Amino acid sequence: MRQADATTIEMRDLYENAPCGYHSVRPDDTVARMNRTELDWLGYSRSEVVGKRRYAQAVSGRSRNEYLRAFERLHAGGEGIEIETELQRKDGSTFDALLRVSALRDGDGRLSGTRASVVDITARKRAENEAHLYAARLRAISQHVVEIQEIERRRLSAELHDRIGQDLATINLNLHIIRDQLQPPQLDRVASRLDDSIGLVENTVETMRDVASALRPLMLDDYGLAVTLRAHAEQFFGRTGIRTVVQARDPVLRMSQAVEVTLFRIAQEALTNVLKHSHADAVRISLEVGRDEVCLTIADNGCGFDARALRGHPREGLGLLIMEERLRAIGGALRIDSRRGAGTRLVATVGRQ
Ligand SMILES: Nc1ncnc2c1ncn2[C@@H]1O[C@H](COP(=O)(O)OP(=O)(O)O)[C@@H](O)[C@H]1O
Ligand SMILES: [Mg+2]
Repeated sequence: MRQADATTIEMRDLYENAPCGYHSVRPDDTVARMNRTELDWLGYSRSEVVGKRRYAQAVSGRSRNEYLRAFERLHAGGEGIEIETELQRKDGSTFDALLRVSALRDGDGRLSGTRASVVDITARKRAENEAHLYAARLRAISQHVVEIQEIERRRLSAELHDRIGQDLATINLNLHIIRDQLQPPQLDRVASRLDDSIGLVENTVETMRDVASALRPLMLDDYGLAVTLRAHAEQFFGRTGIRTVVQARDPVLRMSQAVEVTLFRIAQEALTNVLKHSHADAVRISLEVGRDEVCLTIADNGCGFDARALRGHPREGLGLLIMEERLRAIGGALRIDSRRGAGTRLVATVGRQ
């Protein structure tokens, strides 16, 4: 056999049995050629297709319009198209395919036909769908966990306030009564113990208030986000010495409970990060409440970090990730502006309701 013939046979074999589909169509989309692989995928014999069917007939009803529009664009002068589409086999079943089509033109630039390759992307599509489903399930679970956590925190906070707070107040009262009733010389023997105990009870009441308010500030429900943020900022300053100002134009409109709780949690976590990571000496929290939208910004003057480096990597810390998820759950979004040496600014935006 001549070398040229052998090469032709090899090329033909490559065309016919390549691991992807190949076909060409005429300007009216009638199939001019189709390789064995694609014929097998579609379940047709060559004589049923070539010169007889338009390629659009192999595209399922769901995708056909998109294919036809893309084909129109080639007529209008477009160079090539790449679309993910659904192809339909002779038996009516379908599969996902990536279609890459390039235009063939005559000397006047008119479309004289197309050449296309087809890749079966069923497995990839299935994996994508599974990933989407999985992400949606994870999101639903994390939302559920957050809701349960809020309910629990609220219950605990109320319990601390109502039950333990009451008991401590009674103990305090009793200690004062005992102190008033005692006379010297008994009083001299126990006075310092009694005073210690009264001081201890008062400290415990303070600690309990802080713990309860970190768990779930009850003032959030009664007075709203701006007031609660101011109280929290004051407490944060008292505890850390980091100057913390809250800017909010009074009177601040109330938001839905979900929005107020979420934004409060974001401020809380952001301040924890400021303390833990930033070395800042000042933080500014600003709350802008529009008619439809709320914007909460927490900006520190600390060391900053490379926010982009966190993207797409499995993270050790979950704080920022949870902030993003909490916001997403109520239709909001978080922007992180931070650079090394330039401080950090978190901007949470969400609809007011
Ligand atoms: N205000 C900030 N200043 C400097 N670095 C920060 C700040 N907030 C976050 N970071 C950086 O981002 C990382 C991720 O934060 P986060 O998701 O809250 O996790 P964690 O606080 O548990 O480390 C932190 O480890 C820190 O390096
Ligand atoms: Mg954190």
